[in-house]
Amino acid sequence: MTTQNGKVAKLNKGSWDIIIDIHKFNEEWIKECVRVLSDTGTLWISGTLHNHPSVGVVLKKLGLWILNDVIWFKRNATPLLSTNRLAPSTELIWVASKTKKYFFDYETAKKLNGGKQMKNLWEINAERHKTKHPTEKPETLLERILLIASKEEHTVLDPFMGSGTTGVVAKRLKRNFIGYEINKEYFEIAKARIGVEQPTKKLTDYLERSKNGHDKQLTMVMEKNGKYVKTKKKVLVK
Ligand SMILES: C[S@@+](CC[C@H](N)C(=O)[O-])C[C@H]1O[C@@H](n2cnc3c(N)ncnc32)[C@H](O)[C@@H]1O
Repeated sequence: MTTQNGKVAKLNKGSWDIIIDIHKFNEEWIKECVRVLSDTGTLWISGTLHNHPSVGVVLKKLGLWILNDVIWFKRNATPLLSTNRLAPSTELIWVASKTKKYFFDYETAKKLNGGKQMKNLWEINAERHKTKHPTEKPETLLERILLIASKEEHTVLDPFMGSGTTGVVAKRLKRNFIGYEINKEYFEIAKARIGVEQPTKKLTDYLERSKNGHDKQLTMVMEKNGKYVKTKKKVLVK
């Protein structure tokens, strides 16, 4: 990074300016999240290699408790066509809180991990996308996060909801949900997906099935003649 008198110099060098802006943007939105976060709540921020160092710096700067860095490992990650670097197969999720009395469901985490203490390396396969959103997250990943970090009737906020995966899982697990999405088309997809989701009847059965992997009817939301319609598909979810 270019510096002048010990400070970052703002040069007209496209990409550096973009990086400086991303850092400013991260600080602004994370500050807003912290403003509305309850004292017992936690922030879960997933990011790519190019963004998560900046997120870590912001979390430190805002004086938050950094609780974990969860490494999400996708064994079935898409192979890389170029031969000049390693194929990316992980994402990092920062976990932080405002206070030391944050909510963390240790026992549920243990149940989800076959009765053993859960570690911070999570192997969860990338799932088949249910919408046309390019970076739709697997529902299994969000289920795990919401089950560990919240209880029924708690409120979950996703400021970048994309196709609405967090909202779908929140409704399924009987959490309240607030989501923001800047892209109108993605917003409509998220609204349709969340709209057709049903709350799970018995959470204990659900946890048991989640642990072992199970056949699951997936509701896919597809565009047809300008409208979003639901179709059902049976897949094995691990
Ligand atoms: C990585 S995607 C989220 C994917 C989501 N987790 C899912 O499963 O579909 C990030 C989303 O944030 C949206 N976004 C970007 N900037 C935004 C902003 N300033 N306010 C709200 N949404 C924004 C993008 O349009 C994109 O859909």
